[in-house]
Amino acid sequence: MDTTNTTAANSGLEGVVVADTRLSEVDGERGRLVVAGHDIERLAGAASFEDVATLLWSGALPGAEGREAQRRALAEGRVRAFERLGASGDALGLVDGMDALRAATGHLSAHDGDDAPARLAGAVAVYAAAWARMRGGGQPIAPDPGLGHAADYLRMLTGQAPEAARVAGLAAYLVTVADHGMNASTFTARVVTSTGSDAVSAIVAAIGALKGPLHGGAPGPVLDMLDAVGEPDRAAAWIDAELAAGRRIMGMGHRIYRVRDPRAAVLERTIAGLEAAGVSTGRLALARAIERAAEGALRLKYPGRPLAANVEFYTAVLLDTVGIDRAAFAPTFAVGRVAGWCAHVLEQRAVGRLIRPASRYVGPAPAA
Ligand code: COA
Repeated sequence: MDTTNTTAANSGLEGVVVADTRLSEVDGERGRLVVAGHDIERLAGAASFEDVATLLWSGALPGAEGREAQRRALAEGRVRAFERLGASGDALGLVDGMDALRAATGHLSAHDGDDAPARLAGAVAVYAAAWARMRGGGQPIAPDPGLGHAADYLRMLTGQAPEAARVAGLAAYLVTVADHGMNASTFTARVVTSTGSDAVSAIVAAIGALKGPLHGGAPGPVLDMLDAVGEPDRAAAWIDAELAAGRRIMGMGHRIYRVRDPRAAVLERTIAGLEAAGVSTGRLALARAIERAAEGALRLKYPGRPLAANVEFYTAVLLDTVGIDRAAFAPTFAVGRVAGWCAHVLEQRAVGRLIRPASRYVGPAPAA
């Protein structure tokens, strides 16, 4: 039983430092994200998923040889996961994509060597795509080990050889979301690892944490919001009505950032680049109008608490532009973030100390 703790509970653990990490730094005051020594603005658009996975898992960006080795390792992970799809039971038939991803990943086992980072990353991409195909009434599409991870994920999802511009847009997204400090799902993965458990268990738990609308489940609802608003000149009235009804505006606000999330800017820039290349759903102008309206209305409502766009706001527009269905947005987030989760598992293993905070007992005293 816990001993009574007289310290007031900090239920959101704000400001509590639970790890030293070399993986990423989130500067919430200045709106800066550094991933293993690289500003996210420079990494996204320039680096591939293979590059950022190598950076996170081994500490440095790869050269040509290292990139090719990582491409092969991820491809092998996808091929192996696809070969074993039949062993996932009914997991991929579940209605919710994150439920399916969690359940399918739960069929992997460290005993079979499936806890290696490239295996896990390969499996998450295959399961996310297979679930989306089956949801649409189709059959899962086998991976093409000759392709890069982003290109093959998009091909397995859509069933078509993807255009280079869309692949580049998706790769920029996967790199942008690969790691982000001690977010809830990463913390979850580290807690599981700290007990001495294996990487498969840590990733399954992290998927569960990512599912929530306060974390990775926001982009689908952001797109729903864009649909509901419809026209830029309706944005202000729609936002005001939502706030008056006591609802949160999805894609706005962040626990750490006191300014606009730098990843929102990276993704907005990526969408603009796609538009310039002729790939557009025409939603960028609407999104910008809604962001302006939401920022203004939230400033009025919470003058002391800056609430600006977070990564999920432009994730919705970017993934939609790339051609991914909104039901697959959260699973696609996992396809990118699994790189960070695996890196944190490795880092936490090296720490080797159980994460075990305290609670404050507020229940009744036992009878005398
Ligand atoms: N829309 C409306 N109000 C919001 C808001 C939003 N998007 N984000 C925060 N607020 C409100 C809170 O309700 C709170 O109001 P209250 O004191 O009247 O309860 C106030 O602003 C301060 O919120 P705070 O405690 O600083 O937020 P948090 O750190 O607990 O929450 C989020 C951070 C991300 C969970 C929150 O901003 C949110 O729910 N955003 C929408 C969901 C989303 O986009 N999630 C993806 C995150 S990357």
